[in-house]
Amino acid sequence: MIEHDVIIVGGGLAGSRAALEIARTNPTLNVGLVAKTHPIRSHSVAAQGGIAAVLQNVDPNDSWEAHAFDTVKGSDYLADQDAVEILTQAATGVVIDLEHMGVLFSRLPDGRIAQRAFGGHSHDRTCYAADKTGHAILHELICNLMAQGVTIYDEWYVLRLILEDGQAKGVVMYHILDGELVVVRAKAVMFATGGYGRVYNTTSNDYACTGDGLAMTAMAGLPLEDMEFVQFHPTGLYPVGVLISEAVRGEGAYLINSEGQRFMADYAPSRMELAPRDITSRAITREIRAGRGIHPDGSAGGPFVYLDLRHMGQEKIMSRVPFCWEEAHRLVGIDAVHEPMPVRPTVHYSMGGIPVNTNGQVRRSPSELVEGFFAAGESACVSVHGANRLGSNSLLECVVYGQRTGAAIAEYVQQRKFPEIDAALYLREATDQIESLLNQTGEYRIDQIRQAYQDCMTNYCGVFRSDEIMREGIAQLKEIQKQYSHVRLDDKGKCWNTEIIEALELRSLMIVGEMILTSALNRRESRGSHAREDYTDRDDANFLKHTLAYYSPAGIDINYLPVTITRFQPQERKY
Ligand code: FUM
Repeated sequence: MIEHDVIIVGGGLAGSRAALEIARTNPTLNVGLVAKTHPIRSHSVAAQGGIAAVLQNVDPNDSWEAHAFDTVKGSDYLADQDAVEILTQAATGVVIDLEHMGVLFSRLPDGRIAQRAFGGHSHDRTCYAADKTGHAILHELICNLMAQGVTIYDEWYVLRLILEDGQAKGVVMYHILDGELVVVRAKAVMFATGGYGRVYNTTSNDYACTGDGLAMTAMAGLPLEDMEFVQFHPTGLYPVGVLISEAVRGEGAYLINSEGQRFMADYAPSRMELAPRDITSRAITREIRAGRGIHPDGSAGGPFVYLDLRHMGQEKIMSRVPFCWEEAHRLVGIDAVHEPMPVRPTVHYSMGGIPVNTNGQVRRSPSELVEGFFAAGESACVSVHGANRLGSNSLLECVVYGQRTGAAIAEYVQQRKFPEIDAALYLREATDQIESLLNQTGEYRIDQIRQAYQDCMTNYCGVFRSDEIMREGIAQLKEIQKQYSHVRLDDKGKCWNTEIIEALELRSLMIVGEMILTSALNRRESRGSHAREDYTDRDDANFLKHTLAYYSPAGIDINYLPVTITRFQPQERKY
């Protein structure tokens, strides 16, 4: 058994910012950080467009109150406004802190941090490093962590949260390199395990985004909050689904249908291409459904629309969004200086997650917290994004709530002893779990089941939903889930057995997908990213509340949590 005062699962922005804060606050604490990949390959590294903060470098009239209002309106009034106020007030300080750590932000001619327009933000407040902002921030954070002496376990897969007597006591983890299983005991466990984009067949997310932390939390009997709110980013590159940053539209690109029209004029005339993502993704989907999409041969009626950058000119494209140009060139052979890019919505982000309070401590129920368990970043739901996140608020959330959760943990562990754990029992159970996967005989391959599951989620819980469609989706998911115990692994070895990891990830995907669909079925209204064709309006009287979904193999129970409203009363949401 290994011991750490704090064990953090997840090496992306939220986990590494929390680890750094703990080390800064109390250097005597022994902090371990576990990552399924090397930390600098965590999905945060792929964040492109920027991090929102009111610096007033471009727009002197901006204010944290305006940022808070934009965030709450963008959330379709489901965000908890106390959490949003913390987020937007802390934004300036955390960005300056990142700058002092050495993050290479893009600059204005006078040397101050540059800021650009982003969807749903009423002022130019998104700070950026060209279109590689996550890369720039994560690399500095990890360098800082290493300098602080945090122990990093890279390429370890955590397969269980140890939760006993209402307390988190540690985790069980598997070394991908050689199959070693280890129990870690800790005074506090933090999950910063990111999102679940791979539940769907088309996503901007990394292969590693399989919702493992969410699934482990649910399997431990704890709730997941607002899982119905899945963000579709409007501009996934067709057909691969990788992200073409909103920064491209922030810098002036147009969305064009098969008739050559900037169709956003019909959906969000005051914001056009810079409407929030839920509205823009629905608009693109409607255009495609109405036959105004485009085929690869340029004819009408196809599966994508165009993102047109040509009028921006080569110099601006190559200096502001060079990575997006490169992606389109490398992956689909488009030179965006001279040709429009084919785009359509792609699964991008989870608004829901592990419910936490504003110190990152996990909720067991609307009124109780879990001792020793914390979460932040995309895997958590604090909830600053409500039913729809604004672009460039996720990096901000990772840094603000990573820091805040780290500070809370550093204080929390002062008054906590190491918990008692029967390590041998947990080790035996984990060994049995791995052995039974290896020894299972059956007719299915992992990729067959995963593909069927991803197709099912894509077809039955997409941009538009209805009771009939989702019930059919749940029925199909249940059938696919039965195949899991008949999956056959070809690699029986211990050395770098990625098939075992894929099998464990598939289990996570299946639990998370069922949580999404069931939560979505129960929310009989349209709000933010959850657009129902059978309940087309927002229904504040019945659904101005957060969903709490509790998993068990027998079924999912739904409960609700009130929304915190401080300064912005819900209004009709128009752009
Ligand atoms: O479009 C983007 O660059 C994504 C940003 C975000 O999700 O915040």
